[in-house]
Amino acid sequence: VRSDGTRVFDLTMRAGEKEFTTGRKTPTWGFDGDYLGPTLRAERGEKVQVRIRNALGEESTVHWHGMHLPARMDGGPHQMVAPGATWAPSWTVDQPAATLWYHPHPHGRTEKHVQRGLAGMFLLHDERSDRLALPKKYGVDDLPVIVQDVKFDGAKFDHGHKTLSDTGFLGNRTMVNGTLDPYKEVGDELVRLRLLNASTARVYDFGFSDGREFALIGTDGGLLEAPTRTDRIRMSPGERAEIVVRMKPGGKTTLRSFPDGSYGDFWSRRFSGGDDSFDVLELRARKTLRTSPELPAELGELEVPDGSDSVRGRFFGLRTSGINGREMRMGRIDETITRGTAETWTVRNEHSTPHNFHVHDVQFRVLEVDGEKPPAELRGAKDTVFVPGNTTVKLAMRFDGQADPDVPYMYHCHLLYHEDLGMMGQFVVV
Ligand code: C2O
Ligand code: CU
Ligand code: CU
Repeated sequence: VRSDGTRVFDLTMRAGEKEFTTGRKTPTWGFDGDYLGPTLRAERGEKVQVRIRNALGEESTVHWHGMHLPARMDGGPHQMVAPGATWAPSWTVDQPAATLWYHPHPHGRTEKHVQRGLAGMFLLHDERSDRLALPKKYGVDDLPVIVQDVKFDGAKFDHGHKTLSDTGFLGNRTMVNGTLDPYKEVGDELVRLRLLNASTARVYDFGFSDGREFALIGTDGGLLEAPTRTDRIRMSPGERAEIVVRMKPGGKTTLRSFPDGSYGDFWSRRFSGGDDSFDVLELRARKTLRTSPELPAELGELEVPDGSDSVRGRFFGLRTSGINGREMRMGRIDETITRGTAETWTVRNEHSTPHNFHVHDVQFRVLEVDGEKPPAELRGAKDTVFVPGNTTVKLAMRFDGQADPDVPYMYHCHLLYHEDLGMMGQFVVV
């Protein structure tokens, strides 16, 4: 923390190598370390600055996924950092406690940069979340769980697209925080998992191997109004969820991704990996566990609009070939939005290929999925939402940041191969 109160982080993007399996070194990229990046943590109201040095041999960016911040600090494809250069965006954190993340966003090469290992978590807390009786000892009963699917060709990553589909890369095993076959020993009755689907194309349907229920307490943009009990949560690339699971002394359970037959058609499921099953993370409880307080009945207040004060609607038709029939163009602004207003966006997947939809700078409320009230996992603040084949979602959001007619924010499919192909558009807030 600098004398003016700014919290400063230093990150270096660089190449390295990591031993994922004994005796074999895989070429990787990472922030500071060899793979992934440190968890950054800041409080609401705090001013932060991140100094990013690019020690890679090519240009890249770092985008703050889920962060509400001025467009020129966003780290999208307009804020490229040249090799050898340092970029130092700063902003004041002005949003509720949440599990956010950061990753590169160079136009046309995002899939590659993220797959090689450039990603990390950015956790926000606030006065309310500090007061709540939730598990919050980082690394002890509050665990970051960055899930990625991978495939190895000998010691090297194999990032080839081998499916018939044009969804992108699907791996044949998963890692958590860059570790294969991970387990974690826990010493508390209640354990909070901050799940991030940092895979480039795969959709997971998380639950536990023994079918136990858990409490869903937060989504992309922060805590829900109240915990919801469930036994499954579906997450497409870029989405986050905070869950709390109860352990028994000496007990074990495994976070598993189950085959999910509940969405889209056959192809839509197949091409997002919906037929697959993975054991993602084993939790092993000690023989004696610290008592955890019961989860609070109320958690937070949703700061996302409910659609009633939307001043206009917009439509986004998704196809792999582009959004509303157009491929991303760096020099074209697709939408101009009036600062301070709320809008309702209707997003329709117009074919069978799975897509999702992410909007920079804002959190939204999912009003409807195919005309119905959304399931529990979509009832919190969201910045990314799964849009299975031939499905329509309706989203309400407010644009209350800084106006800037010159620098756009992005909206795009977060299946990174699709984003790279041009399933992305740009908006300015004026
Ligand atoms: Cu996580 Cu525009 O991306
Ligand atoms: Cu983003
Ligand atoms: Cu897509």
